[in-house]
Amino acid sequence: MKAPFSIVLFGTLALCSVTLYSAPVEQPRKVIIDTDPGTDDAMAILLALNSPELDVKALTVVPGNVTAKQGLQNALKLVSLANRCEVPVAAGAQHPLLQKLITAEYWHGANGLGNVELPQAKCHPDPRFGPDLIIELIHTYPHEIMLLPVGPETNIALAVLKDPSIVPLVKEVIVMGGSVSGGNVNASAEANIYNDPEAAQIVFNAGWPLTMVGLDVGDRTLFTGAHLAQLRRTRGPQNDFAAGVLKFMVDLWGKGTGGAAMYDPLAIGVAIDAALVTTQNMRVDVETLGEFTRGETVANRHNTVERNVLHGDHFVIEGVDTLQPNVRVCVSVNAETFLQMFISRLSGK
Ligand code: BDR
Ligand code: CA
Repeated sequence: MKAPFSIVLFGTLALCSVTLYSAPVEQPRKVIIDTDPGTDDAMAILLALNSPELDVKALTVVPGNVTAKQGLQNALKLVSLANRCEVPVAAGAQHPLLQKLITAEYWHGANGLGNVELPQAKCHPDPRFGPDLIIELIHTYPHEIMLLPVGPETNIALAVLKDPSIVPLVKEVIVMGGSVSGGNVNASAEANIYNDPEAAQIVFNAGWPLTMVGLDVGDRTLFTGAHLAQLRRTRGPQNDFAAGVLKFMVDLWGKGTGGAAMYDPLAIGVAIDAALVTTQNMRVDVETLGEFTRGETVANRHNTVERNVLHGDHFVIEGVDTLQPNVRVCVSVNAETFLQMFISRLSGK
């Protein structure tokens, strides 16, 4: 006998609602943050440590905004502030692969944390070398680890050079760095890439799924005085520290733009919720030679190159070859949604 339509409909709806209700909650994503803390790195780390979507398996420290030694101290103070001593914090490279280190206390304060002082760290450094820890964790959790480099790419490149077998075992790499619309160090280069272009070229071409959260979206994610006032309405050790650092950033970085670009926190935001950005697949290479363009992320928007063939004394274009894109370049961002997520995660903490 055929069941009446209303019973079929009710049964179907009930089944749907049961299915939806009992849908398994997604496991927190296992991430490693490679960082040069750094004011906005500090905000990124606190965002990650306070986001249930992420399971922070390690912080590895790279020199960049500050020296490797200062960066390690800052990272340890940050995990101490968040009461998260179980998160391993490991030192890594002491300098870029081929060039001298360029530190940025000018932009991040003498201590790298906007001159906001934190108590002595109660957490201790992990004895393992950062790139080795990265390799170890990727083998422990094959196809699960997301790498989140928010400093120069030195440690990630060292890990790939030492053990290329990690590449297919990494779930995704989300890089804060690069730009397809001009630099912040100079006309062409973004700071993280400029600080180790050879490392960045290795990481961009390793062959893993890589998302580039560059200046193109970071510069649109401005933390303003109004956001600061909102964060200050709540209190707590992490909340108050973040407000102090963000005050430094808004005052210094916000001159002329009206707010501080949340570069590194946005990369964490994309790991939490990829829908915050839209991306375009592009072939990206890192310029390592150019007189004016060393460190530029050179993006081919069309993923094509003309094929020039020698005919007698000159070349003739005979066609167009297609290139395989290697990077998902973030090209737009829902900035206010992200900024409200950031504030909500740190409010009262
Ligand atoms: C990047 O450079 C550093 O100063 C910031 O921490 C960020 O990672 C922005 O260009
Ligand atoms: Ca950084």
